Amino acid sequence: MKAIIDHIRCPLHRYTFSVRPIRQWVEDHCEGSVLNLFAGTTRLNVDEIRNDADQEADADYHMDALAFLENWKGGPFDTILLDPPYAYRKSMEMYKGMVCSPFRALKDAMIRHLKPAGKVITFGYHTVVMGQSRGFEVEKIGVFSHGGAIHDTIASVERYQF
Ligand SMILES: C[S@@+](CC[C@H](N)C(=O)[O-])C[C@H]1O[C@@H](n2cnc3c(N)ncnc32)[C@H](O)[C@@H]1O
Repeated sequence: MKAIIDHIRCPLHRYTFSVRPIRQWVEDHCEGSVLNLFAGTTRLNVDEIRNDADQEADADYHMDALAFLENWKGGPFDTILLDPPYAYRKSMEMYKGMVCSPFRALKDAMIRHLKPAGKVITFGYHTVVMGQSRGFEVEKIGVFSHGGAIHDTIASVERYQF
């Protein structure tokens, strides 16, 4: 059986993809056109549209993630990449108080911007994000271990079974 878990040791940084092994992993798992909805600071070597609510982020659009999805008139994406603040406290302490859009509404809104058989890659503390009820299967899990008492970062790749 094909292994679905990658276990990678690397440092922790508030801008996740500035850590080289994580950036490499995410680039390897993106396919085709990518919507990077919480884009932050690190440009990826993929065909990406970048959004981040922070005006100072390196992004094409500076909108709340849900507002972006509700207003996007371009075509659907092969991959949607989610790397939001993982908890309310982190929004307050690390991302200028910018709070993630309501996550359930975000997940529902994403589906109409995803191509059939598209991927959603989510960073956070959970393995199942989109879930079977929305028609997704987990294809790959990345566990990034930061050592000592620091909790791991988990990334999940879920494929839309259209
Ligand atoms: C965990 S960081 C990830 C950034 C990026 N992946 C990186 O590695 O540089 C979370 C990002 O989400 C942005 N953010 C927070 N709330 C947001 C919202 N409601 N809509 C869009 N972006 C938001 C923050 O500005 C921050 O850049």
